[in-house]
Amino acid sequence: MGSELIYRGSETQPSSHSYSPKSVKPWASVTRPIHYLLREQRLLFVFVGIAIATLIFTVFPTSPAPYVAPHSRFTTLIPDSITYFPIETQQKFSSAHRLGFGSTNPTGKIPLGLKRKGLRIVVTGGAGFVGSHLVDRLIARGDSVIVVDNFFTGRKQNVMHHFGNPNFELIRHDVVEPLLLEVDQIYHLACPASPVHYKFNPVKTIKTNVVGTLNMLGLAKRVGARFLLTSTSEVYGDPLQHPQKETYWGNVNPIGVRSCYDEGKRTAETLTMDYHRGAGVEVRIARIFNTYGPRMCIDDGRVVSNFVAQALRKEPLTVYGDGKQTRSFQYVSDLVEGLMRLMEGEHIGPFNLGNPGEFTMLELAEVVQETIDPNAKIEFRPNTEDDPHKRKPDISRAKELLGWEPKVSLRKGLPLMVSDFRQRIFGDHKEGSNTNNASSS
Ligand SMILES: NC(=O)c1ccc[n+]([C@@H]2O[C@H](COP(=O)([O-])OP(=O)(O)OC[C@H]3O[C@@H](n4cnc5c(N)ncnc54)[C@H](O)[C@@H]3O)[C@@H](O)[C@H]2O)c1
Repeated sequence: MGSELIYRGSETQPSSHSYSPKSVKPWASVTRPIHYLLREQRLLFVFVGIAIATLIFTVFPTSPAPYVAPHSRFTTLIPDSITYFPIETQQKFSSAHRLGFGSTNPTGKIPLGLKRKGLRIVVTGGAGFVGSHLVDRLIARGDSVIVVDNFFTGRKQNVMHHFGNPNFELIRHDVVEPLLLEVDQIYHLACPASPVHYKFNPVKTIKTNVVGTLNMLGLAKRVGARFLLTSTSEVYGDPLQHPQKETYWGNVNPIGVRSCYDEGKRTAETLTMDYHRGAGVEVRIARIFNTYGPRMCIDDGRVVSNFVAQALRKEPLTVYGDGKQTRSFQYVSDLVEGLMRLMEGEHIGPFNLGNPGEFTMLELAEVVQETIDPNAKIEFRPNTEDDPHKRKPDISRAKELLGWEPKVSLRKGLPLMVSDFRQRIFGDHKEGSNTNNASSS
């Protein structure tokens, strides 16, 4: 074997005996490649290759900026290393995209073969009331959505119209346990929102808010995803400032029956900001005010769902206290629009997302009577503990920085919710019948 190799080598390379400087012709270095090209039609292949390349670059010019930030809609172009860039660099690169909400590649041209893809987004609590409407919007926008939900208050029915869609996945998972997913954005909604549900197991509510939020922030840090926390107007407690601005620090009872929720969300906000400051995670915080709409839990004790279900069942509307406590009511599509603008925008927040239209409980009862049953009776009951007296968002910050404000009035939104409730109550009598445990929340 060894002799064979030596023999072949001596065939191509002249031995030291035959070496002569005269035998090397000066033009040999030019003619040899030409001879090589002319042999076996190699030249033809070269011309064909040049022609194809010219055609591609003429017809489909590439974008001048192959770098695309993590929150661009073109995830196929994103190198993994982007997540390790300093946050200022990420913001610089991505701000152009984010400024135009939902905007895309500035040239509008995508290289051939790179299909336009949506983002990969996790929605924790996505089988719940707000989450399922958010999922609808994200899927409609062309994103791939993974819903993570333990179905404590959420229902598969809220998202089952997406089953079979390759852009949709549903994972039964409790956020207090860690989870690893490759995603671009995390909308963190998982948490029972109504007093009936969050008081049911207060320790679990705290765990969901604290450990669950820690886990999702850890995931965001690990995969370089942007994280949005759905906090609540409850962080203002029983407010001493009216209407409530984001700069107000609140008046919260730390040892009351609502504290598992209020203080849990306040801690979740703290964690969110600490991950931002300490680990450079891109975060967003929304403080959501009372929201209503189709797919709300029918018997969750929140005042709008309570009144609507009672009026439909021909039961008296239960008003707690004197009925003069106020709330603002936001239709769910307005909230979803606000959440998406916040996620895509450049501002961390917190932002109040709510409808500033203020109603007393008695005024709300009147709107429900007008919409469903003018003869519905009102029944007064003693007020629940720690029920805030006033709640009304100041949304100037969201108006100015997100260009957002609610569009749907209570009189327009309520009938949409009523038809959903009517269908669920009279089409499915298994929905619970206990509507007694209510508050103004
Ligand atoms: N709807 C409102 O008026 C309102 C107001 C303020 C804040 N918020 C916040 O918005 C978010 C969504 O509220 P909603 O009204 O849709 O409530 P919801 O109860 O309908 O939805 C919450 C979802 O989270 C899921 N969930 C709860 N604990 C979980 C856990 N440990 N692991 C995984 N999933 C879990 C539930 O099963 C449910 O699908 C909540 O974080 C809530 O605090 C809502």
